Amino acid sequence: MVRERFEVFATGVGAGRARGGRLRVVRECRVSLLEGKVGVVTGGAQGLGEAVARLACAEGAAVVIADVAEDRAAEVAAEIAAAGGRARACRTDVTRAEDLEAVVRDAVASYGGLDWLCNNAVGGAGDFGPLHEIDERGWTASIDVCLKGVFYGMRAAIPVMLEAGGGSIVNVTTAGVFKGEAMLGAYVAAKGGVHSLTQAAAAEYAARGIRVNSVAPGGMETRAIQRYFAKFPEFREATVAQHAMRRLGRPEEVAEAVVWLACDRASFVTGSCLVCDGGSLVNSHLL
Ligand SMILES: NC(=O)c1ccc[n+]([C@@H]2O[C@H](COP(=O)([O-])OP(=O)(O)OC[C@H]3O[C@@H](n4cnc5c(N)ncnc54)[C@H](O)[C@@H]3O)[C@@H](O)[C@H]2O)c1
Repeated sequence: MVRERFEVFATGVGAGRARGGRLRVVRECRVSLLEGKVGVVTGGAQGLGEAVARLACAEGAAVVIADVAEDRAAEVAAEIAAAGGRARACRTDVTRAEDLEAVVRDAVASYGGLDWLCNNAVGGAGDFGPLHEIDERGWTASIDVCLKGVFYGMRAAIPVMLEAGGGSIVNVTTAGVFKGEAMLGAYVAAKGGVHSLTQAAAAEYAARGIRVNSVAPGGMETRAIQRYFAKFPEFREATVAQHAMRRLGRPEEVAEAVVWLACDRASFVTGSCLVCDGGSLVNSHLL
């Protein structure tokens, strides 16, 4: 949360310190990063997507939570609304182009536009395991959700953003894009595709006001990583040790990076990947 200090000179009774016979009142005003901005978060019903939706709303945005987990998405939206935020759920399967088109229409109809999109959904059962054991179904499921879903999301959002004169897209990849990621071949291949797609789109639309960036998280305590550890319990300790900070991240920590890239404060940033990984890429095994 950004705070700006305003100094107000006033006479009379009040808090502050005396200066030239007047009282100087110093107060802090919160400046919301996404005030009045409308966004869509795919996979926003839990984990990182939920944290992004909650933080974005706390920062003044109206958010459509787009997830296959309809009930959970509705719960999150209701909790945000009960706390005074603006959020709604829209059942969305990111593997279906028409669902992404519908969620963009929903944002425009409900909140008057679409300023930012976070492509975050992840899924694809059977995508963990040695490459030679990944069956075609698992491979396709990973590619469909993690890569094709991002393409569909961007393709649906970009025309609306072009018409409005700009927008911001944040795609969630993984720090694994930059290193070998054992047992996650299909997943990391999809994420590598998203990394490249992000750069291509950034180059294509920069001059027309749309910024496209990615966030590459390290391990985060979410259900996705729990599924991975359930299959490979022996990897938990080593995964934590991979991070220079010697811990996994909290989704709320990574959401900060997403929200910053989504907002106008990142106005000169496009085609970038913000690695938010507790130092997993710089980890030294000497320490
Ligand atoms: N958790 C980690 O350690 C980690 C590490 C690096 C990157 N990431 C990335 O962060 C992002 C969020 O991961 P997470 O850990 O919060 O995952 P998660 O499994 O906790 O949540 C994923 C969400 O996506 C939704 N989803 C699944 N399939 C969908 C579909 N077809 N259409 C719409 N929604 C669908 C799920 O219902 C769920 O709400 C993902 O892009 C993931 O690849 C996670």
